[in-house]
Amino acid sequence: MGGQGDQVTVIGPRSTGEAGGAGEVGGAGEAGEGEGVGGVGRRRVAGLLAAGALGAFAGTTGGMIASGRRDPGAGPTTVPLSDVGARTIPYHGVNQPGIVLPFRPQARAWIGAFDLEPGTTSDAVKGLLRRWTVASRALMAGQPLGSVEDQAVAAIGLAADPLVVGVGPAALTVTVGFGPSLFERTGWPRPDALTELPAFPGDQLDPARSGGAIGVVVAADDAVIVAHAARLLTRLATGTAHPRWTMSGFNGARGSGPDSATPRNLMGQVDGTNNPRPDEPGFATKIFVGDDQPAWLRGGSYLVIRRIRMLLDDWDQLSLGDQERVIGRRKDTGAPLSGGDERTPANFGRAEIPADAHIRHAAPAFNEGAAMLRRGFSFVDGNESGLLFLAWQADPRRGFIPVQRRLSEQDALRRFIRHEASALFAIPGGVSEGRYLAQGLVES
Ligand code: HEM
Repeated sequence: MGGQGDQVTVIGPRSTGEAGGAGEVGGAGEAGEGEGVGGVGRRRVAGLLAAGALGAFAGTTGGMIASGRRDPGAGPTTVPLSDVGARTIPYHGVNQPGIVLPFRPQARAWIGAFDLEPGTTSDAVKGLLRRWTVASRALMAGQPLGSVEDQAVAAIGLAADPLVVGVGPAALTVTVGFGPSLFERTGWPRPDALTELPAFPGDQLDPARSGGAIGVVVAADDAVIVAHAARLLTRLATGTAHPRWTMSGFNGARGSGPDSATPRNLMGQVDGTNNPRPDEPGFATKIFVGDDQPAWLRGGSYLVIRRIRMLLDDWDQLSLGDQERVIGRRKDTGAPLSGGDERTPANFGRAEIPADAHIRHAAPAFNEGAAMLRRGFSFVDGNESGLLFLAWQADPRRGFIPVQRRLSEQDALRRFIRHEASALFAIPGGVSEGRYLAQGLVES
């Protein structure tokens, strides 16, 4: 299976609307400690490029959509649906697999935060990380857990697991991070940037659905695959850690539109347009932790999670024009109100983008360059709807924190949203063959 190799496996025809390009992704990674690991990372990036990663990445410069217009005549050029299950993303690499994707964001996600059981030792956490490494690699490759060599992992799986055998992993990724309390409990040295996020004006956070010692993001293009992987990972934690909170989210399904199209959120907006792109200079330094950090964090990142409720009944009261002025972009094409198409840089000198527009206060230009990679998932939970906001960055003090401080005071959108839960996790670098997640930290 593709997950065993260095290349992204794409079975069947790929989107013709994807464009590639050379770029720097990654950083050195903990893998630098192991043999040949940097090479794995580079090959992985090459694989991503070959698979059209840069074009498909969160709807960046895809050929079909490059103009920002969705040409109805062109029709979707995406892969056939039969391809959905067959896609695999390799587990090994300089970065963990769920951050920069070779395809559009997956359609389904499960996010779980775990707390350690009372009395859990750092040795027990080490065991958990080893089990999760084995299980994640197998599941991402479409391999039943019952067939892996590790006995503890095999014991909870079926060798002919019907939820894996004959069903593709559907671009499954498992990404794991550590919250501040893990370091308190284990005594491991906590990275400076990993502190509790400050309180922001307007926050209405539920502590029971915030924080956590270990965070896990499971994403795939199929809800059954996600649920199955989440359950097995949770079982493998038994005795060591238990779920503190879990949340589920979704994006548009693969095949419902061109692979290169930027996703839409539940307010109907094109969301993700001005994300940093892997093919732009400095991408890695914005998103991935650099060489000045401990080896286990190199090639890693920081993940901010916010459950943001959308007050859609209030939002619906606005006219289309007012909704567009709240963001500063057109709702149909995602183009900035200063003119052009989706990819045209916003001209903040023009009055069409109001003084309190969301993009004016969120843009790096007004936040001393603060940048983050936003790849969230929508949620619907009873009569509550909103965005599971996920933002990856090299350092939250130069990413989410300054931007949210400004947004919480000045953004026109703040009247239509409510931050209800929050977490910050340090995301270890990727895992090279023969090693396990955060081995450099655990064995330091
Ligand atoms: C439910 C809440 C939110 C919604 C619906 C929302 C929606 C949007 C939309 C539609 C755009 C324009 C398209 C794009 O470039 O992606 C945008 C841009 C952006 N948003 Fe948000 N957003 C939300 C929350 C946040 C939060 C909490 C942050 C960070 C603290 C944030 C940071 C940004 C940034 C950095 C940009 C790009 C600005 C630029 O450079 O043009 N957003 N958002």
